[in-house]
Amino acid sequence: MSDSSFQRRKRVLSGVQPSGNLTIGNYLGALKQWAREQHRFESFFCVVDLHAITTPYDPAVLRAKTREVAALYLASGIDPAISTIFVQSHVPAHSELAWLLNCITPLGWLYRMTQFKDKSAKQQAESVGAGLLAYPVLMAADILLYQADAVPVGDDQRQHLEITRDLAQRFNHLFGETFTIPEAMIPLAGARIRAFDDPTAKMSKSEASEYHAVHLLDSPDKVKKTVLRAVTDSGREIAFSGDPERAGVNNLLELYEALTGQSRDVIEAHFASARGYGDLKKEVAAVLIETLEPIQARYRELTRDDAYIDDLLAEGAARAAEVAGATLALVHERMGFLKARA
Ligand code: TRP
Repeated sequence: MSDSSFQRRKRVLSGVQPSGNLTIGNYLGALKQWAREQHRFESFFCVVDLHAITTPYDPAVLRAKTREVAALYLASGIDPAISTIFVQSHVPAHSELAWLLNCITPLGWLYRMTQFKDKSAKQQAESVGAGLLAYPVLMAADILLYQADAVPVGDDQRQHLEITRDLAQRFNHLFGETFTIPEAMIPLAGARIRAFDDPTAKMSKSEASEYHAVHLLDSPDKVKKTVLRAVTDSGREIAFSGDPERAGVNNLLELYEALTGQSRDVIEAHFASARGYGDLKKEVAAVLIETLEPIQARYRELTRDDAYIDDLLAEGAARAAEVAGATLALVHERMGFLKARA
């Protein structure tokens, strides 16, 4: 074996907020791909509870969702023997580095973030928390603590990854080489699943309307209802299309493509003899149910006993804290903090 084979595997870090209900979009665009790639990378997957408190929330729901999201990571195939799964707040270095980075973050960078503009517009101006503005700085801390080389994120997080890179560069420039500059890893397929009730909007896990999304824990009956109600157009041709008028049918086809892994030609040929969109919807619902069934079965198994998840999360946090702690110690030294006597 050559020496280079002992170089460390490239490191990846990503996270999901424990809010709302994870959707098929989260699975196809994130969890499924994380699980598939976990062998190639040294992976850290975080449940970002500290991010979930940047908009109004219910503490009891936060606690329940934190376990739920961790269990869904596992049920989606992320293997805790290979990857580190942990809860962000269990590793205090995240909050600590976020504060340090806040002090070198120009406010102008934060006011420019589209997510801040969108989310703050939904609240009374006077009640928007400082944490919502500083959200990207905490995300930068998540990533930089692990010296991550790559960060799998959706398109909507691209800007936050840019700020992370800018902050890493700024820190390295001010205090000396400290952080790895991470690259974005934008998922290929399934990342653009649209809402069933509005194909012009991205499918969201925090949308309250009933037939907006298929959630990972939805019953087969609910899945069927949601897909059969999906907004389409008045035509009947079942073909992939970039025409905004036909976004609903295109979304169903892209979903079918991501779920079955079949090529577009094969899919279009398959539906050529369909009598209308109803046939397409029935088949999409069927493959969705088939995909969710084993995930839900594993989820039920894993959550039979909370202690099982909590033990895994404790192990994950210990492993994460080792890596994060080493980076934080280096940051303290670089920034000129007096070392506390042991
Ligand atoms: N902001 C991300 C989102 O809403 C979640 C997140 C927090 C994250 N910290 C991260 C994603 C670090 C990747 C890496 O999707």
